[in-house]
Amino acid sequence: MEQTCIVFIVYILAITATLTLGQSSENIWDQVRTRENPCRDTTCGEKQDVCECYLTVEHRLTMMIEEEGTLVVPKGGQLYEYDKPGSPIIKSEQIPYILTADANNSRLVIAVNRRFPGPQITAYEDQTLIIHVRNLMDTDSTTVHWHGMHQQGSTYADGVAMVSQCPIGHGQEFTYKLKANPHGTNFYHAHIGDQRTMGLYGALVVYPKQDFPSATKQEHVVTLQDWNHDDDASTLYQRMLYGIYDQARKTPYKTTSSRDGAMYSRYRFHSGLVNDKGRYYTSSNVHNQAPLTEFDVAPNRNYTFRVISGRASDNNCRCF
Ligand SMILES: *[C@@H]1O[C@H](CO)[C@@H](O)[C@H](O)[C@H]1NC(C)=O
Ligand SMILES: *[C@@H]1O[C@H](CO)[C@@H](O)[C@H](O)[C@H]1NC(C)=O
Repeated sequence: MEQTCIVFIVYILAITATLTLGQSSENIWDQVRTRENPCRDTTCGEKQDVCECYLTVEHRLTMMIEEEGTLVVPKGGQLYEYDKPGSPIIKSEQIPYILTADANNSRLVIAVNRRFPGPQITAYEDQTLIIHVRNLMDTDSTTVHWHGMHQQGSTYADGVAMVSQCPIGHGQEFTYKLKANPHGTNFYHAHIGDQRTMGLYGALVVYPKQDFPSATKQEHVVTLQDWNHDDDASTLYQRMLYGIYDQARKTPYKTTSSRDGAMYSRYRFHSGLVNDKGRYYTSSNVHNQAPLTEFDVAPNRNYTFRVISGRASDNNCRCF
């Protein structure tokens, strides 16, 4: 009898241990998915060798509180639930997760940890980046490229679909391991189809081992993106090949190309976004009053603004 009981207790303990271990890796995905920092708390610090982060990639809609199935609309720089025009949404836990783009219709984007652009990864030079990517998109596979990282000895972690890896399918996880080198303002972005322009990108800031004398501790990251209302990636590609027309005016849009003749005009630029936010202008001075990104600054202080271009259309600061 006593022996049975002990065996039983051991059995219960074993089950509990299994559940706890199983849960802890589940938990880290979920913990970081609803906060700003995508990385494990005990990593990525100045004195640490490793920076370990978790990125969950998923489709989301702009201008929606998805949990409640509620459309939001812009007015006077704020957002309102469509059926409650009297009181703006101010709940701080909701605001970062309502994606707006330029507030024109509810559009599909690819979010990382529910955000668009994805959360910032901040590491130190020569740290080992261990970045787990989980694909929860139902209909697309993905890869992530670590733009600017030299990847010496780690080409397999470069994230170029079909070249350095097979794409990560729905429900799959993939772990990238590389050195954070060189330091500077970089970004991670999808390297398959047009997923970057749909939102799969985010800042990757690598601090130098030694601060520059001019470095300010106060800094802001600014990501720029052009935004288009009309098309999915395949339509845009076909239009790049065959032309884009304004049907109402019966005229083609002017195409643009790089100096060596490569076509670039996949996008009509409807609105510019700064960190996911912009306004749709119907004429040069009439816009839809969508909220904009604000940066907190105090007078007589110096700030570093790190500017990242996630743009797709022809421009001088595009980088691949
Ligand atoms: C959304 O943008 C389109 C142009 O793409 C425009 O015709 C339409 O009026 C805009 N909708 C609103 C509600 O501003
Ligand atoms: C800001 O930077 C300028 C130029 O480098 C410098 O002269 C000034 O002292 C700095 N101000 C503060 C508050 O650090």
